[in-house]
Amino acid sequence: MKAVIVCVSVSHGSTRHVADTMAQVLGAKVVRPEEADLVELAGADLVGFGSGVFYGRLHPRLTDFVRALPARPGRAFVFATSGLPEMPLAPFTRPLVQLLRGKGFEVDGRFSCRAFDTWTPFKVVGGINKQRPNDGDLAAAQAFAEHLRNRERPVA
Ligand SMILES: Cc1cc2nc3c(=O)[nH]c(=O)nc-3n(C[C@H](O)[C@H](O)[C@H](O)COP(=O)(O)O)c2cc1C
Repeated sequence: MKAVIVCVSVSHGSTRHVADTMAQVLGAKVVRPEEADLVELAGADLVGFGSGVFYGRLHPRLTDFVRALPARPGRAFVFATSGLPEMPLAPFTRPLVQLLRGKGFEVDGRFSCRAFDTWTPFKVVGGINKQRPNDGDLAAAQAFAEHLRNRERPVA
């Protein structure tokens, strides 16, 4: 399976850590949006898109990248790290999932976990979730990627 993960991780490298864990399972290359090769992306069986959450949204470098992608069918997944827990009815990943579906992608899964957060309100206490993503988070990311790998469609 050819897999590529497009990741924006600007704060503490937490999303990149999660991306690298998933990439090991999927044999995927991890790239920033600016490094992504559109031909390679078009040829991939699975493309992952992930970033930290900033002011309630995934990073604009990631969403702008997806917005500019040509419409085409494909298989994708979305992931995020955030300081605060997601609201089950309004996950942080939802707008990007909708954007990808609008581009013709089948979105096969979404993953999120908590991570170290030094956003201003939490700076005074030295940040929250200092040890995260932890072993449990990375094990969950690995299991998520294994599930994606095992659901790979058989070659027609
Ligand atoms: C300026 C700023 C804004 C943030 N806004 C949010 C937010 O709205 N909700 C949230 O849960 N976490 C928020 N965070 C925490 C980040 O989502 C979290 O630290 C994330 O793991 C960063 O990922 P990265 O290290 O891969 O960049 C914010 C962090 C910063 C620095």
